[in-house]
Amino acid sequence: MDTPYDSRPIGIFDSGVGGLTVLKELIAAFPHEHFIYLGDTARVPYGAKSVRTVERYTIQVANFLIQRNVKGLIAACNTASALGLGALRAHCETPVLGVIQPGCQKALAEMKSRSGHIGIIGTRSTIASGAYPNTLALLKPALKVSSLACPLFVPLVEEGWINHGATRLIVEENLAPFLKDPVDILILGCTHYPVLKPIIAQVLGPRTQLIDSAEAVVEALEKLMNQLLLPTQPDAKQRVDFYVTDVADRFQEVAGRFLGEIAVDRVEMVDL
Ligand code: DGL
Repeated sequence: MDTPYDSRPIGIFDSGVGGLTVLKELIAAFPHEHFIYLGDTARVPYGAKSVRTVERYTIQVANFLIQRNVKGLIAACNTASALGLGALRAHCETPVLGVIQPGCQKALAEMKSRSGHIGIIGTRSTIASGAYPNTLALLKPALKVSSLACPLFVPLVEEGWINHGATRLIVEENLAPFLKDPVDILILGCTHYPVLKPIIAQVLGPRTQLIDSAEAVVEALEKLMNQLLLPTQPDAKQRVDFYVTDVADRFQEVAGRFLGEIAVDRVEMVDL
């Protein structure tokens, strides 16, 4: 019997450009899939907004992708994953993957000692939601977990201040609690933070292992493809469609910082 395939696209969304760190990993891992990326650039940042607002936005962006007949939805945005995923799952039947659970699973898999100290950094709303510590506690009770909001990291990355002295100072200042009480594992709980990995690694030193939830999502999607989603035909050509809710030019300019070599040729602006 022939292997069944499902050539429908996979929808991936973020509050803006940051989810491209996740898309980059997915493009490399699933070369035959068709992805549709939606960045809600008109309403970014989500990182300081309330649960009610983030839930509403998450459902609106997901509806746009569902109307495009996606076989699965990936919430690349940590804030949307932390605050909006419950409401989204209740709203639709399409399989939904967020970044919190995969990031936590990867952190625990990498933890070498039983008494390890796990740090989490993210936007104000992600940290206030407690989504990461709550998920870790369900997976492995009685862990030592410390969380820190680092709201200044997002604008630094958006402005391209990656190797800037000011960025290093801000990273040092923000992560000072993790220098006093070191963490063995640090979960980068925000789409933009993987871009700052080299500076964060320098500041915290070799004792701390950085967990990038963008990489963790690939493993989770592999499982989802086995259990709920079918792959596309292996000889299919990869395709990525980009949509934003505001100013496509700016998206294209910043996208290079996240996607590296991968070109973003065409970005369409849409109203949700
Ligand atoms: N995408 C957001 C996140 O991962 C960061 C940017 C924002 O605040 O919207 O939490």
